[in-house]
Amino acid sequence: MDELKKAAKIAFASEFSFYLKAHNFHWNVEGIHFLQFHDLFGNIYEEVYGSIDDFAEKIRSLGAYVPASYTRFSALTAIEDETQILPPEQMVAELLGDNEKITKIFKLVFDLSEQAGEHGFSDFIAGRMDAHRKHGWMLRATLK
Ligand SMILES: [Fe+2]
Repeated sequence: MDELKKAAKIAFASEFSFYLKAHNFHWNVEGIHFLQFHDLFGNIYEEVYGSIDDFAEKIRSLGAYVPASYTRFSALTAIEDETQILPPEQMVAELLGDNEKITKIFKLVFDLSEQAGEHGFSDFIAGRMDAHRKHGWMLRATLK
């Protein structure tokens, strides 16, 4: 159970960082196809942000505290910070790589959750994996 709580916190911090990066790209993307990329990143950040409160409250329901400060996020997240303004295709490629990282982390959390018999939490995590699979498709299709 402790391992599950720890992994869930890492997943949460990574999910929040992923959300922030998608929002960053939504705001700062530039170029001839601005609107297409602005909307792509917009759809992703909105979907992920929409899951954050539920995710946090599910962590509280497991009996753990929610990491919710820049210090805690940077200590726990698996998503590397991006401070440069990248060309649009590089933004997409970077977010695709991060999406794959997130998916792997969620898979680990899912397995730990099943081992702990926390099927409700597993169900939530499975939903997040599904959502990220769709984000992966959109990002990958954009790069072709
Ligand atoms: Fe916006």
